[in-house]
Amino acid sequence: MTENSAELRDAAPLVALRGVNKHYGALHVLQDIDLEIAQGEVVVLIGPSGSGKSTLCRTINRLETIDSGSIEVDGKPLPAEGRELAKLRAQVGMVFQSFNLFSHKTVLENVVLAQVKVGKVAKAEAESTARELLERVGVGAQADKYPSQLSGGQQQRVAIARALAMNPKVMLFDEPTSALDPEMVNEVLEVMRSLAARGMTMVVVTHEMGFARSAANRVLFMADGRIVEENTPDAFFTAPRTDRAKDFLSKILQH
Ligand SMILES: Nc1ncnc2c1ncn2[C@@H]1O[C@H](COP(=O)(O)OP(=O)(O)OP(=O)(O)O)[C@@H](O)[C@H]1O
Ligand SMILES: [Mg+2]
Repeated sequence: MTENSAELRDAAPLVALRGVNKHYGALHVLQDIDLEIAQGEVVVLIGPSGSGKSTLCRTINRLETIDSGSIEVDGKPLPAEGRELAKLRAQVGMVFQSFNLFSHKTVLENVVLAQVKVGKVAKAEAESTARELLERVGVGAQADKYPSQLSGGQQQRVAIARALAMNPKVMLFDEPTSALDPEMVNEVLEVMRSLAARGMTMVVVTHEMGFARSAANRVLFMADGRIVEENTPDAFFTAPRTDRAKDFLSKILQH
C-alpha cells in the first residue's frame, strides 16, 4: 500500500455519514456516527459483539434505515426506494457471513442474474463478465455447478464475484470469513487483498487481525454504537488509546 489514509482523504469522500443515529426501540444502536471514506480506502471495522458494526454496514446500502443524519455515496444521498434504490444496491456491493447464493441456480447464473435484471446488460455480455470474474476469484472451473457442490470458501468467492459483477463503487464485507473452516479463510482473504490492491473502496467487518494489519488503511473501533477510536492499523494494534480497545484487543489476540 503506497498511499496512506490522510493522502487518500484529500479528495471528496466516496462514502460520507454525517450525524447518523439509529434506534431499535429503546436501544440507541448507532450514535452520532461521522465517517468519511475516501475512494480506494480500505476501512476495517472492529469491536465487541453488539456494538453496531453490522448495522452500520447495512445502513450504507440502505438495508437499514436511519433515524437522523445523512449518508451519501459518491456525493448523492441514499435513495429511499424504487429503481434508484436498486441502482444504489448495485453500486454498494455487500458480502455477508452466510454466502446467500441462490441455491437453485448455477454458479454462473448467480453471477449473471443481477447484471441482466438490474443492470440491463445483455445475457451474452453478462456471461462473459461472469466467467472473467469467476476466473479472477479462482473458481472458473466451478461455473456450471450448484452452490451446494462447492466448499464454503468457494461459495464465498462466488458471492464476491457476484457483487463485483455490478461494478460497485464500494464493497461492504460483514465477517466474510467467520462461517468458514479455517483452511478456507485465507483463500477468501487473498481475493479481498487483491481487490484492495486494485484500488477497490472497502469497508470490512472482520476479526482477522492479520488482514486488518496488512490490507487496511484505517481501523475503526466501535463500542456501544459509537466509533470510539480510529487509527492506522499499526498505531491501533501497538498502542490502542482507549480502555475499551485495549480490553477488546487483549481478548481477541489471546487466542
Ligand atoms: N433487527 C433488529 N431489531 C432489534 N435489535 C437489533 C436488530 N438488529 C440488531 N439489533 C441489536 O442492535 C445491536 C447491534 O447489532 P449489530 O448486529 O449491528 O452488532 P455487531 O457489532 O454486528 O455484533 P456481532 O459482532 O455480534 O455481529 C445489538 O444489540 C443487536 O441485538
Ligand atoms: Mg455483526
